[in-house]
Amino acid sequence: MKKIAIITGASRGIGAATALLAAERGYAVCVNYLRNHAAANAVVRAIECSGGRAIAAAADVSVEADVLRLFESADKELGPLTALVNNAGILDRQMRVEDMNGARLNRVFATNITGYFLCAREAIRRMSTRHGGAGGAIVNVSSGASRTGSPGEYVDYAASKGAVDTMTIGLAREVAEEGIRVNAVRPAFIYTDIHASGGEPGRVNRVRQFVPMKRGGEAVEVARAILWLLSDEASYSTGALMDVTGGA
Ligand SMILES: NC(=O)c1ccc[n+]([C@@H]2O[C@H](COP(=O)([O-])OP(=O)(O)OC[C@H]3O[C@@H](n4cnc5c(N)ncnc54)[C@H](OP(=O)(O)O)[C@@H]3O)[C@@H](O)[C@H]2O)c1
Repeated sequence: MKKIAIITGASRGIGAATALLAAERGYAVCVNYLRNHAAANAVVRAIECSGGRAIAAAADVSVEADVLRLFESADKELGPLTALVNNAGILDRQMRVEDMNGARLNRVFATNITGYFLCAREAIRRMSTRHGGAGGAIVNVSSGASRTGSPGEYVDYAASKGAVDTMTIGLAREVAEEGIRVNAVRPAFIYTDIHASGGEPGRVNRVRQFVPMKRGGEAVEVARAILWLLSDEASYSTGALMDVTGGA
């Protein structure tokens, strides 16, 4: 069966590393992004230069109409979906909960929770044997923050990842008989741009001393875990939450 994946937030960071590795492993890849057209196109070009197939698709995963368009364009241009990586996630400036306003909370929850649900729904409608699909796999990119709660930094973000963990377990059980496996990776302290959105671009270097392995992680180290969970090597794993945190 042809392997076709939608990877949300794949223009940069963990999503981009996952798109490149997925292409290397034989997936045709839909590289979703929010607004960084140049970065998404660079990922597509890199895949094409290595002989792979990829398209770039702008869509805000928190907007239902955008998600519908995203999946329709992957259907049309790549073919029947076999994998979804729910990766597009955001955090906001580091602050205490008492200082967070409603707009921020809604923005974080809409992208990190609603976005994951909307994309999972569209993937299930296509892949579930209940809907005539041939099965597939979903990997949700959660965070080690769901365990620690990120006090003083972004409890809202951590809580959104707690929701992703719970969604992973519930959805895995809901569709287990329909040919779809649903798992999550929980990274922490990975060198990407996300820490700059929290107001501290050098965060990984500050905290790496507290990581048992005494280093930050690279995006490709998360991508490898994601690709394993998508693959048939993980054929009896569903509802699993895999930490990629250097032991933290
Ligand atoms: N880095 C870490 O240490 C770490 C740790 C734990 C978990 N994670 C999780 O890993 C995932 C990826 O994080 P990252 O560090 O790779 O982030 P990143 O470098 O900041 O990249 C974010 C990606 O998401 C896209 N994006 C943002 N909002 C979107 C939306 N509403 N719709 C569609 N795409 C959107 C961005 O697109 P544009 O380029 O167009 O802006 C970009 O491709 C997130 O879920 C994050 O919570 C990261």
